[in-house]
Formats: sequence, structure tokens, C-alpha cells
Amino acid sequence: MEQYVIKGGNPLEGEVTIAGAKNAALGILAAAVMTDQEVTIENVPNVRDTRVLLQAIQGIGASVRYIDEHTVAICGGTINPNNDLCVDDEFIRKIRASYYLLGALLGKYNQSKVALPGGCEIGARPIDLHIKGFEALGATVTIANGMIQAKAEALVGKHIYMDITSVGATINVMMAAVLADGKTTIENAAKEPHIVDVANFLNSMGANIKGAGTDVIRIRGVKELHGTTYSIIPDQIEAGTFMVAAAATKGNVLIKNVIPKHLEAITSKLNEMGATVIEYDDSVRVMVDKRLKSTNIKTLPYPGFPTDMQPQMTAALALSNGTSVVTESIFENRFKYVAELSRMGAHIRVEGNTAIIDGVPTYSGAAVVAPDLRAGAALVIAALVANDFSTISDIKYIQRGYEKFEEKLRELGALIEKVETEKDIQKFKFKVS
Ligand code: UD1
Repeated sequence: MEQYVIKGGNPLEGEVTIAGAKNAALGILAAAVMTDQEVTIENVPNVRDTRVLLQAIQGIGASVRYIDEHTVAICGGTINPNNDLCVDDEFIRKIRASYYLLGALLGKYNQSKVALPGGCEIGARPIDLHIKGFEALGATVTIANGMIQAKAEALVGKHIYMDITSVGATINVMMAAVLADGKTTIENAAKEPHIVDVANFLNSMGANIKGAGTDVIRIRGVKELHGTTYSIIPDQIEAGTFMVAAAATKGNVLIKNVIPKHLEAITSKLNEMGATVIEYDDSVRVMVDKRLKSTNIKTLPYPGFPTDMQPQMTAALALSNGTSVVTESIFENRFKYVAELSRMGAHIRVEGNTAIIDGVPTYSGAAVVAPDLRAGAALVIAALVANDFSTISDIKYIQRGYEKFEEKLRELGALIEKVETEKDIQKFKFKVS
């Protein structure tokens, strides 16, 4: 089983280039099947989640052709709508976001069927808002035998109010609505950068979507979509993770290929903690030369502080001088990693959706297990700080969303290796001691 072995203590220094946004890619790859023409998508991050979604897309009959590591051509014209348009359990278990094919196929063929996503490591994650949105557009949604099926005679535009701001429901309903008859308005829509990216992509295919990035999205249905070439935005969370890793290790890192505006919530918290963050056109530099200061954070929908940066920031706050309070307001179960961080010496008390953190001067190395993607990244950050050796297992979660994570960290001076056996760990220890 693959794991990371890390000898911490080195400040991260140098430059790192950020990949395309995973969460934007998941929406865009699914939306690509909505035309019968070929679509070329650039800057696709080469991470497990995008690869699995591409397999699911092939599974429904679309053709998928890799042009290079980060460019893929998809053609939805080979899908046979007379076949059962069904995305099965195998994919949805590996990657929740394959449920974007529900909205994409419903929009294009007026029918789709996807295995029902269950709960997961960070909370129950219902999909009632997606269903409500499809129903508002005229679809009948049924759940049976672990599958969710949506069918419509014809989709008709509607005024839809989202009871909760949901990234997934906004994207799914937006996809279903682009080929519907007439106008759809999504109110209380999510405003995350990847919503805007999916909307821009659909518009480049001929859709008519206005207002993405605000809380009211207006869609005028069009008859059909056409082929396009589109480049995905940089990954805000990968960038944020390297920003926090630079700060926690008291390093100096230039993080390239980013949109600084998307990072503002993270930048402003790092500033409060005493880090220097310099913004350039498409890069940011993070520098820290003394112990970080405590601060309070509450996760919120964009432009608030992203829940996907909460574990990494908690790992940095656990080293800061003073007491910090982190409140998780999006997912109910996102502090499971705290037990692992405590094994590395953190002093964190969790009460409901709040973590009260008393900063410690440093971490000590330990054998820990990544409970999910972002928590895994937080444990890597802690291990990069610890003066001794750590191992992090279950890195399959980390590989879902970070491209070449260990290679990028190594280039910044980190002592980290992906290993499989105890012998490999011993070899690494011998090499770096
Ligand atoms: C997306 C991101 C995930 C990020 C999250 C919040 C992708 C692939 N994943 O997840 O990385 O952590 O946004 O920024 O883009 N909810 C409902 N009913 C629904 C849908 C959601 O009650 O039908 C609730 C959720 O339980 C949660 C909140 O709404 O409490 C926000 O979730 P949502 O924005 O939908 O997250 P995802 O799209 O699943």
C-alpha cells in the first residue's frame, strides 16, 4: 500500500506551478458530452478523480482521447441514447462527482441514471437540491435499487430557488437547464470560481448563461451545443495548500499559475497570521520568518473561507502563537483528522462544529492515516514541519486531488518519498539521515 514517508524540518523554498482546478474539471468533463461534436479540454489536472470520471464518461459510450497529459478530447456523439444511460456504482463509489452526468445527460437526452451517492468521510452530503432542481425543470426523479433516475418528456425552464448554497446542485441544474425550453433562473446559486468556469465552458459550446459568479444565474435554453476548445482555471485549493505549507514551514515560495482573486480569503487569513503574501498577476509569493500568530476562521461558501482549506489551515494554526477557533459551517464531519494531528502533538479540542486550537511550537513525527483528501494534505503539512520522520498512509485520498504532490514538494526542498514497503521506509531514512 502506497504511503508517504517524510522527514520534516526543511522550510519550503522555490517555485511551484499549480495544475488545473479539479472541481472545475469534474463539471466540465461531464458537460463535454452534451454536444455530439468533439470538445477539447486543456489544463485538465492529472489526478485520480478526473481519470475516474473520464472512465465513467467512456462507460456511457462517449469517446475519450488523451492528446497529452493535460489535454483531452471528448466526443459525446458516440453515445447511443437508446442504451440505458447509466453510470454505475463502480464510478460513483470512487468519485461522487460522477453525478454531474445526471444533469448533463438529462439535459441532452431527457434521461439519465446514476448510482446514488452515499454519505462519505466528511458528512452525509444529501442530493435533495439536485433532485428538486431537476423536478422543477419537469423531470420525474425516481430512486430505486440504489440508482437515481431522471426522465422528462421535455425540460422546461423555471425559476428555481436553492434552499442551501450548493456547488454541486448549482452545476448539475445549470447543465440540465442549458438545453431546456425557455428561461431558467437559479437563485441563491453557489458562486465558487469553478461554477463560473463550468458556465464559461458551456457558453463556449453555445449555451446562454449569464450571472455565474453571482447568486442569480440566468439561463436561456438553446437548441443544441457545439464543439469547443477550453482551458480550465487553476486550482484554488492546490494553490492554497502550497501557500499554507510555505507558511507553516516558515518558507518562501512563489506559487505560479494562480488567479490571486480566488485566493483572497486564504491570503487575508495568512496575513492576519503574520505571513507576507505578495500578489502578482498570475502568481503569489508567501514568506514567513517567525512564528505564526493565532486567528479565527469560519468556513463559508465563496467568497468566504473555503471548507476545502479548513484542515490545512488548522494544521498551520495548531503551530501558531495563541488560541485559534475554527468553525466548520459547510460539512458536519470535517474534523476527523484532528485525532491524527493530535498524534503529532497538536492541542486541539473539538466541540461540535468548532475546533479550539492551542498553538504548540512544533509537531513531532508520527505514523498517521489520511482520512480524506484535504485532511491528508493537512497531515503532510504537519509532517513537513515535524523535525523527525512521519509516515502517512491511505494517500490514495491525497492522489484524488493533488497532481504530483510529492514531486512538487521535493522541488521545494521537502524530504518526502512515496513508498510501498517497510524496506523502502528504511532506505529513505538511511538516505536522508
Ligand atoms: C463541492 C466540492 C467540495 C467542496 C464543497 C463546498 C466538487 C466536486 N466538490 O462539493 O470539494 O468541499 O463543494 O465548497 O466541486 N447540500 C444539501 N443538499 C444538496 C446538496 C448539498 O443539503 O442537495 C448541503 C451539503 O450537505 C453541504 C452544503 O449543502 O452541507 C454544501 O455542499 P455542496 O456545495 O453541494 O458541496 P459539493 O458540491 O458536494
